[in-house]
Amino acid sequence: MCGIVGYLGERDSLPIILNGLKRLEYRGYDSSGVAVYNGSKIVSCKSKGKISKLEKQLQKRKNISGGIGIGHTRWATHGEPNDVNAHPQFSNSKKLCLVHNGIIENYSTIKQKLIKEGFSFDSETDTEVLVNLIEYVKHKKSVKLGEAVQIALNQVIGAYALAVIDNEKPDEIVVAKLGSPLCIGIGEDEHFIGSDVTPFIEYTKNVVYLEDGELAIIRNHKDTFFRKISDNSLISPTINKLELSLDKIEKQGFDHYMLKEIYEQPKAIKDTLRGRLNVSKGIIKMSGMDDYINKFLSAKKITIIACGTSWHSGLVAEYMFEKIARIPVEVEYASEFRYRDPVIESDDIVIAISQSGETADTLAAIKLAKSRGAFVYGICNVVGSSIARESDSGSYTHAGPEIGVASTKAFTTQMTILYMMAVKLSKSKGVISEKLYHKYILEISNIDKKVHTALSSNNVIKKIAKEFLKATNCLYLGRGYNFPIALEGALKLKEISYIHAEGYPAAEMKHGPIALIDENMPTIVIATNKINYDKIVSNIQEIKSRKGKIFAIVSKGDKEVKEVADHVIEVPHSIESITPFITVVPLQLLSYHIAVMLGKDVDQPRNLAKSVTVE
Ligand code: AGP
Repeated sequence: MCGIVGYLGERDSLPIILNGLKRLEYRGYDSSGVAVYNGSKIVSCKSKGKISKLEKQLQKRKNISGGIGIGHTRWATHGEPNDVNAHPQFSNSKKLCLVHNGIIENYSTIKQKLIKEGFSFDSETDTEVLVNLIEYVKHKKSVKLGEAVQIALNQVIGAYALAVIDNEKPDEIVVAKLGSPLCIGIGEDEHFIGSDVTPFIEYTKNVVYLEDGELAIIRNHKDTFFRKISDNSLISPTINKLELSLDKIEKQGFDHYMLKEIYEQPKAIKDTLRGRLNVSKGIIKMSGMDDYINKFLSAKKITIIACGTSWHSGLVAEYMFEKIARIPVEVEYASEFRYRDPVIESDDIVIAISQSGETADTLAAIKLAKSRGAFVYGICNVVGSSIARESDSGSYTHAGPEIGVASTKAFTTQMTILYMMAVKLSKSKGVISEKLYHKYILEISNIDKKVHTALSSNNVIKKIAKEFLKATNCLYLGRGYNFPIALEGALKLKEISYIHAEGYPAAEMKHGPIALIDENMPTIVIATNKINYDKIVSNIQEIKSRKGKIFAIVSKGDKEVKEVADHVIEVPHSIESITPFITVVPLQLLSYHIAVMLGKDVDQPRNLAKSVTVE
């Protein structure tokens, strides 16, 4: 996610802001920038790449110092990572300067309105639209900056945490928050701003956490006040005393990034749906797909290429697309696809899935597919990544940076995109009734809530994890939509606990794997299926009769499996096609707790890289 830093006080703001931005590097970013009022005007410096590059550029500049300033690390959502799109963003008059973390959903409508009013834009960002909207309101209504921000934000749809300064009133910073974090450090006659408290933790322990729908006009101590964005009414904030260590804060109180990212999944899914799923209108808007819908409609098959966990989301997509959109799908390991001289026709669709957008095998597979004339649709989490740029079109998951090597929130947000694509395609192909279409739309809109409920089994799972500490092998079984989840659960366990694990379709047991079963081989069975439920129960009984230990994931209130399994983890009920989002959560948590109990390096497991940019 983007990071915001600000300072207002007697010290030189630049070093404080730069140090603060470095503290926010853990959030992931692709560019950074600062703006400081130097006594006569706001001067800024920004660049694509790391903060060290920004510092090099600052060394060549003079007179960037002063007691008020803002800074930003950008995680691109609208517009490629480059110098122009980096923040801070100025208004047309160059009087207002703003940094922003979030997504303005209706920015293009506002942009068109501002263009009609004579505004022009240099960047592709929603942020530049926001700062010019504030300028437009400030001028049109002849109000001060604080009121202009409040009025402007009532015209905005989306999420934001912002800080804005005014050349004409360089003794205040206006901040506002909705959906993205922002906090204010209250010092002795100085104020600090941060996306979290890490930028200023050494200067003050007094912190105000801005709440959604709140705005603050920060001046010197006695003149700082807080308002509600909705009606400009005054509020009195709570000043909190900081206790957490720096390390804990970067992980927002979690022990590891992986656990933080597992818990971020409801928000990540919601952010991925934002601006795309409109339940009341029954619309799924995906511009990357809308622009090429005829290609999807005329395609004879879809080939999905990916690696690792992304390949597993592709496998789930095979069930979604074939069942819901009635289109043949093949799922290929990119590393195999690129070398086996595949049969790819010019009217084929290839979907490439990659969290990092830099996986060498997937990138090479895309180039091969394109050389055969296929249309490539990329699903990435990193804006402007190589795979995103190489693809003909695509959709970004808005999971935010995924720091833990073991992929979690990227996986569930990939499935969110794929599910929307399958339902959208089924509607466009006319292979689904209006009733069922709206049922799917409603189900999609509730995925984040069901994932949130699935997280509540964490304590039960932590207890169960103790049963695995002596295991050297594990079996994961699932049927239908949950077969890919069995594979994903096995991969999670392997890559962070180093316990060997295999995933299988449950019915495959009798074709060999059942020979493995004995009292030393724990088996995790995903048994939420309504279809073939009785067959899953008999698979469990076959294992039990051979002294195998069973850990079952069941739908809430399940009775039959509960009678035979040794341990049961309950998850919320859902339609079959939604179960993968829900059943993967306990498997993520189980692998996490086992790895922690075994003392493994959960976030940076041995031999692994977050992005495999080599063959
Ligand atoms: C998953 O937990 C692993 N880190 C790994 O399998 C990963 O999914 C794979 O390397 C693909 O990465 P990508 O999604 O960035 O292309």
